[in-house]
Amino acid sequence: MSRKYNIAVVGATGAVGEEIFRVLEEYNFPVGDILPLASARSAGGEIECCGKKYKVEELTEDVFEGRDIDIAFFSAGGSVSAKYAPYAVEAGAVVIDNTSHFRMDPDVPLVVPEVNPQDIAGWREKGIIANPNCSTIQLVLALKPLYDLYGDIKRVDVATYQAVSGAGKSGMEELVMQMKDFFAFKLDESEHKAFPHQIALNVIPQVDKPMPNGYTREEMKMTNETKKIMGSNIPVSATCVRVPVLRSHSEAVTITFPEDVVVDVEKVRLALNDFPDVEVIDNLEKGLYPMPVTATDSDTTYVGRIRKDLFNDNILHMWVVADQLRVGAATNAVRIAQKWIELEDV
Ligand code: A2P
Repeated sequence: MSRKYNIAVVGATGAVGEEIFRVLEEYNFPVGDILPLASARSAGGEIECCGKKYKVEELTEDVFEGRDIDIAFFSAGGSVSAKYAPYAVEAGAVVIDNTSHFRMDPDVPLVVPEVNPQDIAGWREKGIIANPNCSTIQLVLALKPLYDLYGDIKRVDVATYQAVSGAGKSGMEELVMQMKDFFAFKLDESEHKAFPHQIALNVIPQVDKPMPNGYTREEMKMTNETKKIMGSNIPVSATCVRVPVLRSHSEAVTITFPEDVVVDVEKVRLALNDFPDVEVIDNLEKGLYPMPVTATDSDTTYVGRIRKDLFNDNILHMWVVADQLRVGAATNAVRIAQKWIELEDV
């Protein structure tokens, strides 16, 4: 009988945690036992995965002991990962961490399996593999085939249109509540906690905390994480914007290639379509391009509006869309687990 893996999911009741159970089931992941973990608030509740029900337990320092967990997915916030991931590792699990806490640690690989699977080998240093930021994952999936096509990228400018799912269930609930309040003519009384301003019928040019250099933490994540994943010092300048969309991020991306490159849009389309888990939808005449509704519930990163710059032959513009909860979080985490099994023969 082929080997099965015991799985813990920390943040099992959250937006990403719930999606992880769905992806495990859809990918026919060789699941042995499942240990769903959350805060004391959710302990005793139930989740369903692969046709079985499991009781949610409270995350504690010793909950992993003697449970023979092979893989622990963490998706309950950076401070929870910082405190509890070492206990999971100590108990023998590999941790696949969805938070930003370990991403820039030089002893922790930061992995998008289609882009840098070779980095997984570094997991043994700390027993942890980090899942990149959602906006970074879909960006590098579209950059990598073009980097390979033209041999280098001189710089990337990106503006994101990020769904509220990036702030978890409370972000999604806040948008829905505010829309309800709008139709009840009481939007001005509506509360905002997940976001710094009203998100319904608005766009907010701030995702995550301000940094001293005038960028936000989210924008700096895109800059720093892209370098680490691509293994190349590509300058990325980002403007991250929250939009009232439930769960797929869009990005307007401008890529500058070396001076001698003359961008060939047809070759770009082919390179993107040939890359795993990337698909081009691009026919402006027919009104065909990816949108959040195209990407939601899908494991593909979609690219459209591909065009050469009006003034420079070596500059390309494109539009990249992916489901934040799947490609940007749960699916990438499960794909890391699959690659870890395949490459590390564990
Ligand atoms: P709970 O539902 O018990 O609060 P989201 O990203 O959708 O907001 O979900 C966050 C997830 O992280 C939830 O499953 C939440 O559990 C869990 N979580 C938050 N704080 C803690 C904590 N201190 N210990 C364990 N789980 C936590």
